[in-house]
Amino acid sequence: MGTIRRTVLPLPLVMGMHLLCLLSIGNAEDPYLFFEWHLTYGTISPLGVPQQGILINGQFPGPEINCTSNNNIVVNVFNEIDEPLLLTWAGIQLRKNSWQDGTPATMCPILPGHNYTYKFQVKDQIGSYIYFPTTALHRASGGMGILKVHSRPLIPIPFDNPAEDHAILLGDWYNKGHKTLKRILDSGRSIGKPDGIQINGKSNKVGDASVEPLITMEAGKTYRLRVCNVGMRLSVNFRIQDHAMKLVEMEGSHTVQNEYESIDIHVGQCMSILVTADQTPKDYYFVASSRFFKQVLTSVATIRYANGNEPASPQIPLPPPENSVGIAWSINQFRSFRWNLTASAARPNPQGSYHYGKINITRTIKLSNSRQVVDGKLRFAVNGVSHVDGETPLKLAEYYGKADQVFKYDLVKDEAERGDKVVVAPSVKNATFRNFVEIIFENQEKTIQTWHLDGYSFFAVAIEPGTWTPEKRQNYNLLDAVSRHTIQVYPNSWAAIMTTFDNAGMWNLRSDMKERAYLGQQFYFSVVSPALSLRDEYNLPATQELCGIVKDLPRLALYT
Ligand SMILES: *[C@@H]1O[C@H](CO)[C@@H](O)[C@H](O)[C@H]1NC(C)=O
Ligand SMILES: *[C@@H]1O[C@H](CO)[C@@H](O)[C@H](O)[C@H]1NC(C)=O
Ligand SMILES: *[C@@H]1O[C@H](CO)[C@@H](O)[C@H](O)[C@H]1NC(C)=O
Ligand SMILES: *[C@@H]1O[C@H](CO)[C@@H](O)[C@H](O)[C@H]1NC(C)=O
Ligand SMILES: *[C@@H]1O[C@H](CO)[C@@H](O)[C@H](O)[C@H]1NC(C)=O
Repeated sequence: MGTIRRTVLPLPLVMGMHLLCLLSIGNAEDPYLFFEWHLTYGTISPLGVPQQGILINGQFPGPEINCTSNNNIVVNVFNEIDEPLLLTWAGIQLRKNSWQDGTPATMCPILPGHNYTYKFQVKDQIGSYIYFPTTALHRASGGMGILKVHSRPLIPIPFDNPAEDHAILLGDWYNKGHKTLKRILDSGRSIGKPDGIQINGKSNKVGDASVEPLITMEAGKTYRLRVCNVGMRLSVNFRIQDHAMKLVEMEGSHTVQNEYESIDIHVGQCMSILVTADQTPKDYYFVASSRFFKQVLTSVATIRYANGNEPASPQIPLPPPENSVGIAWSINQFRSFRWNLTASAARPNPQGSYHYGKINITRTIKLSNSRQVVDGKLRFAVNGVSHVDGETPLKLAEYYGKADQVFKYDLVKDEAERGDKVVVAPSVKNATFRNFVEIIFENQEKTIQTWHLDGYSFFAVAIEPGTWTPEKRQNYNLLDAVSRHTIQVYPNSWAAIMTTFDNAGMWNLRSDMKERAYLGQQFYFSVVSPALSLRDEYNLPATQELCGIVKDLPRLALYT
């Protein structure tokens, strides 16, 4: 299959070749990394059952983007499958540049046989992120991978350089493939329960013979594992036989380095742990099992010692309990995750970061998820509004002054109104540029939720059982909550986040559970800078396709 092209070009060469893209993104001093990706169908067997998967350059999971803070990333994506496609870079903030976010509201899809070149800068960010398709249910078939952002060479990281740095992309998996799953959802039914858990595209049970190791460690050395939940819906608990896991990074923030025996990771989340090869040299199991689900699905992978020759013990460590005790356990673990305030690292918006607890909240938005049947079909909604994508990307409609032909602002109110009928419509909520807001996620359903916000990181200040009231603010972590971009909400519980809407653009707030997002549990925040200035937002890029009602309009430069 195609080759991966990855080159760092010296500046003079870049200036000659890519003057235009230099002008449109980033800072001239920051290096460029170029990638060429071909997305194709190919056979994969994550659970041992061969099926049609979506490969990138022949790979599943897709190729790694390994870059450094402030690098400019250029990815030329060739759509060689038979359906329109987009990729998103979850957690990459794309400052001033929601044009490259790869959500159906910000871009026209890349048509089959076409290519599109994403250009963005990983400005002031570090850590572990995932990319994946946002179109149809493509993610159910693959197309996902990791994006690692290293600290710049002169910036110290708060731990010794690990001997190796490995990605572990795990999550629930369906053997049916995206076309069948999409057909089920389109017919108004649920896709039901996943068939198992995959770990880097494979699935093994305890005792499986001749299992290839996930990693091979040398005695005494320390390894960084970047674990991401790339599943469709299930939270997962992961653990390693006889080895403590030191948490060092989570969704782009260096954390206080606590040690854990097992960690709950929810859909869309990435965490870096350090593991030291300090046990008897032999094999050990890395175990991943589903959480808060009626049936526990488990897979293992082998962690090998270079000079060991004994198989792993069949006694795998147990997961935490599944009942309300398990929820309390998981909430406690969430509370133990703290931001390391003294670690140096690139941070977007540093002034907002350090003292977020002292900023006055200008707006409180309470969002409540629900599941219901509308006209005989299953839908999911946020405050009674179930989002649908249209033919015209919402951002393009807004940019061309044609929003009123495509959507209504603010169908989602700041608080759910009781007893309203569910509205199925494109859903965009206005946010005032630079406002500091509090968002409360209320989950009155019996299933756990995970939410993700594009374009920003936020402070995950609280998760509690029960119902939120203003008095609960007294229990917020206003000092060292982790700055991140996803948050889980347990059944009959709430979660609170805080962020500053300082990144102009059209940004998706969505359930990270694919069935729920596909059937409407998402909306977009429109953040417009009244200055209409290039200081705040880039113009529509010259390479962007136009489609829908703006298809034949001239290219517009709105900001100066
Ligand atoms: C990834 O980037 C880091 C920092 O530049 C470098 O040390 C490392 O060798 C790279 N890894 C790979 C696999 O290219
Ligand atoms: C498509 O790929 C070609 C060949 O690499 C490139 O020249 C062109 O700019 C790409 N088109 C877009 C829209 O990115
Ligand atoms: C936080 O980072 C600092 C600076 O790198 C480091 O010395 C310290 O050990 C870290 N603290 C914790 C609690 O992890
Ligand atoms: C925040 O609000 C309080 C009470 O209304 C006010 O006294 C204070 O000056 C405000 N702080 C800022 C930074 O605006
Ligand atoms: C929402 O934002 C749009 C675009 O900035 C503006 O035209 C519209 O008046 C706003 N609507 C409300 C209800 O604030």
